[in-house]
Amino acid sequence: MEIPVINELSKESKNRTKMVEEIVKLERKLFPKHESLARSFDEELRKRNCGLLYSEVGGKLAGYIMYSWPSSLFASITKLAVKENCRRQGHGETLMKAAIEKCRTRKIQRLMLHVDPSRTAALALYRKLGFEIDKLIECYYSSDRHAYRMYLEFNND
Ligand SMILES: CC(C)(COP(=O)(O)OP(=O)(O)OC[C@H]1O[C@@H](n2cnc3c(N)ncnc32)[C@H](O)[C@@H]1OP(=O)(O)O)[C@@H](O)C(=O)NCCC(=O)NCCS
Repeated sequence: MEIPVINELSKESKNRTKMVEEIVKLERKLFPKHESLARSFDEELRKRNCGLLYSEVGGKLAGYIMYSWPSSLFASITKLAVKENCRRQGHGETLMKAAIEKCRTRKIQRLMLHVDPSRTAALALYRKLGFEIDKLIECYYSSDRHAYRMYLEFNND
């Protein structure tokens, strides 16, 4: 199994337009409308405190992770997705670890995320990486879809 290659998408990236198009396509396919950033993806990405990493196989998008740091105290993972035919090959874990490192170097104290409890693969991944459940937030995504708020505490000594 190949080790996933992780890249950062910046404003200067030559392939930015192509990658954003591919990400938006995947976003539309994988997430219901109320959870999808497809319509506002480029706008989100232009925010100064937002980062995006992606992995690729043979020049094609395999997965992506979006994160943001609203303050120096905490950061959030706002999106994580891997193409169906690229799953269980380590992309999700490698993307998460890369985003965690990006946040760690910003001296952030806590990394947070929200996940629908029925997303068992994502939940298992977050637990594997040390995230703990803070609480269940009812109706977070919609009237009948809840979310666990999870966090990872950094020790910045
Ligand atoms: C969650 C997701 C990103 C995982 O990506 P992936 O590339 O398949 O994950 P990896 O191959 O890196 O697996 C890493 C760990 O995740 C967990 N995991 C991944 N897929 C799993 C599955 N189908 N069932 C249970 N655990 C799973 C395991 O702990 C695994 O570690 P292991 O291989 O030692 O068992 C992917 O399933 C996905 O895109 N799901 C749909 C979108 C989604 O739910 N996003 C999260 C929104 S909060």
